[in-house]
Amino acid sequence: MRINFKSLKKQAQKSIGKSRNFNELNEVLKEYLGKQGKLTLILRSLEKMPKKQRQKIGSQANELKNFFKEKFEKKEREIKEKMPKASAASKDWIDVTAPGKKPQLGHLHPLTITRREVESIFESMGFSIAEGPEMENEWYNFDALNIPKDHPARDAWDTFWLRQNEIKNQKSKIKNERMLLRTHTSPVQIRYMEKNQPPLRIIAPGNVFRHEATDASHEFQLFQVEGLMVDKDISVANFKGIINQFFSRFFRKEVKSRLRPDFFPFTEPSFDVNISCVICGGQGCSVCKQTGWVEVAGAGMVHPNVFKNAGYIKGWQGWAFGFGLERLTMMKYKIDDIRLFRGGDLKFLDQF
Ligand code: FA5
Repeated sequence: MRINFKSLKKQAQKSIGKSRNFNELNEVLKEYLGKQGKLTLILRSLEKMPKKQRQKIGSQANELKNFFKEKFEKKEREIKEKMPKASAASKDWIDVTAPGKKPQLGHLHPLTITRREVESIFESMGFSIAEGPEMENEWYNFDALNIPKDHPARDAWDTFWLRQNEIKNQKSKIKNERMLLRTHTSPVQIRYMEKNQPPLRIIAPGNVFRHEATDASHEFQLFQVEGLMVDKDISVANFKGIINQFFSRFFRKEVKSRLRPDFFPFTEPSFDVNISCVICGGQGCSVCKQTGWVEVAGAGMVHPNVFKNAGYIKGWQGWAFGFGLERLTMMKYKIDDIRLFRGGDLKFLDQF
């Protein structure tokens, strides 16, 4: 078998030299060292050759292979050297006219926006802001508010009771008093009056918890704002004046309100506060269940037993209210499901 290694070498060198990019260079590689490549076939045929011939052709074939490898690698380096310059340039290229990437900024939660607004409106009317603990005892949450044990009104506030071992460091004022997560902000009325003498006007915003099933307008954790005003000669008329002023400023338009009889053991008389539906303007829609009115708060004149339990002597009058911040926010921003507030959906939250 005669193989013209000299001419093969020349051809390979020429083909490698002519290659302008990796594709062309790979084609040459295939032509010589691919499965059916010229050099591959020579190397494969070696085993069938007689020993002497195998040694001779084998050494020439290996020499050609090394030569080919060396030329191939050199060419590869040359092509590579030309390429990085072009890609570096395109990497560094900046389109100064392209719009910038907006950084993700944090922002206030809609309930925080509402709470701050509510606080600011009441502060401008001379109210102070009071706070109370979310983990409360039975006395402040119920008994002091004229809701003794076994009173059916306790059923209205399904309660998360706390186990004794969860509250080691919280001592109740009264022996054997059970602890709970407050079901409303009304306990702050008692806590505040124990430490402050009238006349007074406060609001007490805060979280409350109820062992309730959730739906579009009910949550088991909600945010209430309690209001309390105590003075001589305070009447329902004062309440209506203040609350109407608040609604108009909060919704930034005239909002009609109405009081309807209700029952709370800590107020007498008690009433439900309704406002004309801000969404449909009182015409009737799904939010107000076609009535044109939405219930936003419970309220009433402070019961004499509440004054007594707070240590006030006779002669004071006052009113109190408690509304749900979620429901007010829903009305203001036309939100149809209360669960969105704590659902953690950024698509919802980023709209504020
Ligand atoms: C009370 O909690 C009384 N403490 C309010 C009060 C204070 C009455 C002072 C008299 C004097 P009620 O359970 O109705 O009342 O709740 C008050 C408001 O909280 C409701 O009008 C509603 O706006 C909101 N609310 C009550 N339960 C829920 C709930 N599960 N989810 C969302 N909002 C609620």
